[in-house]
Amino acid sequence: MSEKRTLHIAVIPGDGIGREVVQEGIRVLEYLAQASNGTFLFEFDFFPWGCQYYLETGRMMAADGLEKLQHYDAIYFGAVGWPGVPDHVSLWGLRLAICQGFDQWANIRPVRFLPGVESRLRHPNAESLDWILIRENSEGEYSGIGGRNFSGRGKGKEVAIQSSIFTEEGCERIIRYAFEIARTRKRKKVTSVTKSNAQQYGMVLWDEVFARVSQEYPDVETEQWLVDAMAARFVLKPETLEVVVASNLLADILSDLGSALAGSLGLAASANLNPERRYPSMFEPVHGSAPDIAGQGIANPIGAIGSAALMLEHLGLHDEAKLVHQAIEATTREGKLTPDVGGTCSTREVTDAILANLAKVSAKV
Ligand code: NAI
Ligand code: MG
Repeated sequence: MSEKRTLHIAVIPGDGIGREVVQEGIRVLEYLAQASNGTFLFEFDFFPWGCQYYLETGRMMAADGLEKLQHYDAIYFGAVGWPGVPDHVSLWGLRLAICQGFDQWANIRPVRFLPGVESRLRHPNAESLDWILIRENSEGEYSGIGGRNFSGRGKGKEVAIQSSIFTEEGCERIIRYAFEIARTRKRKKVTSVTKSNAQQYGMVLWDEVFARVSQEYPDVETEQWLVDAMAARFVLKPETLEVVVASNLLADILSDLGSALAGSLGLAASANLNPERRYPSMFEPVHGSAPDIAGQGIANPIGAIGSAALMLEHLGLHDEAKLVHQAIEATTREGKLTPDVGGTCSTREVTDAILANLAKVSAKV
């Protein structure tokens, strides 16, 4: 008999609803492992990092946090941020520290319109909409370069500088990644988004790299758009979108817009990938810690469970990932929804329904 494959997963639930939804994703993963007849199993190690940890220790994660994480097969992350700790401290101290420390330069954010979830778009065929945002995840506007000074000159005289970094290498690898993803899709098309009319250095370099790399992919249609017009196009002509590649900040904003159009921020999944696999990749819902609904048991778990499916794909468990997507669709089709998408189910009830549907779709295979 062949050996069981043990997948070591570092779990960082973080703050607020991050903790609530990660727990549900783990139930789905455990179910799949059990159903695999001993083919694979998960070993989860939990790391209690986040804002509470910060208030106790002065750090968002252990000083040797990256060393602790680096040998895991993947990281499963909830969300970080809580009132009382400045958001830039919590984000830089944990999520960005991991993304940048592990060179997770590709952030993949599919925008999915689920059956049974009323889209916020008035569109004749919203269920057919399906595009994917590829976010540059290592530099750009999130390079963390800058500083503040001159507060000594008196009230109202302080100066802050925040610089963006665009490297040719950084642009090229994410653009190339977008083209490779486009090749796996039915309609092969990449739209690059910048604001290069105003950002005349970094984003013009991005545009030039895009034009150059696109020559190597004659089978893929290309477009270059400015972000303001693209925000409107997300609403007005979403059926024209396939693969959209953009810088760190611009794609972050567009991905919240995409998931809101699909129905809720709680639906959106994401993967922070180190495609070379020199470091573990990290999987997390797009949403934050949602202090406004934390502790009520009503957070939508679909973003986190969809992120677990992206993790399965990354680990080579493609069939299992597909089953999870099917189970999510069957669940929303039945109207088993949390309040953010118009339902009355709790977080747990939605996951219960996903598990029941997982059993049904697995039985068909
Ligand atoms: P948020 O995504 O936490 O919440 C925005 C709105 O969407 C809220 O009304 C919330 O209730 C709703 N929402 C989000 N996820 C939901 C879910 N699964 N089910 C139902 N409703 C959901 O963004 P916000 O309020 O701007 O930030 C809250 C905290 O989260 C801040 O500290 C922020 O820095 C942090 N944050 C962390 C992120 C991360 O860890 N990757 C990403 C975004 C924000
Ligand atoms: Mg965001």
